[in-house]
Amino acid sequence: MPTNNPPHDLSPAQLAELQKRALAVAHNAYAPYSHFRVGAALLLASANESDTDVIVTGCNVENASFRLTTCAEQSAIAAAVSLHGPTIRIRAIVVTNLNNLACQPCGACRQTIFEFSTHDTRIFFPSDDGTTSEATITNLLPAAFFLKN
Ligand code: THU
Repeated sequence: MPTNNPPHDLSPAQLAELQKRALAVAHNAYAPYSHFRVGAALLLASANESDTDVIVTGCNVENASFRLTTCAEQSAIAAAVSLHGPTIRIRAIVVTNLNNLACQPCGACRQTIFEFSTHDTRIFFPSDDGTTSEATITNLLPAAFFLKN
């Protein structure tokens, strides 16, 4: 669920590195059914501004039983939690694909991103005109599901 963290700036170099890593991991996609190869790169929020950037990536992993497919965003988030534990927060996420197609995170991925986002999480994806679009999780999923406790 989004929490209020201090706003984070993202330098052009950090964004370029995320784009590079997302593109690189898309080459590992297992997509024999759709042939749509997707990569996602997460920049994790860190406690200290001086910490070096932690980037975790993931690609889509399809299945003959189509609904069991895992999207790139979900692979990346599962990897990030596995590597760094349950308190991770996403500072930025870049999603890209090798098919040169516009592609926003799907509905299920929006809910998954929401779980580990803050209000400042920056979400980048390829848009129709070939440029990169940016949104917040509130833009993409204004009425996310969450459990009240
Ligand atoms: N896919 C992703 O990995 N992320 C998205 O944001 C949209 C769709 C994958 C799932 C499937 O393997 C293929 O793209 C076609 O839907």
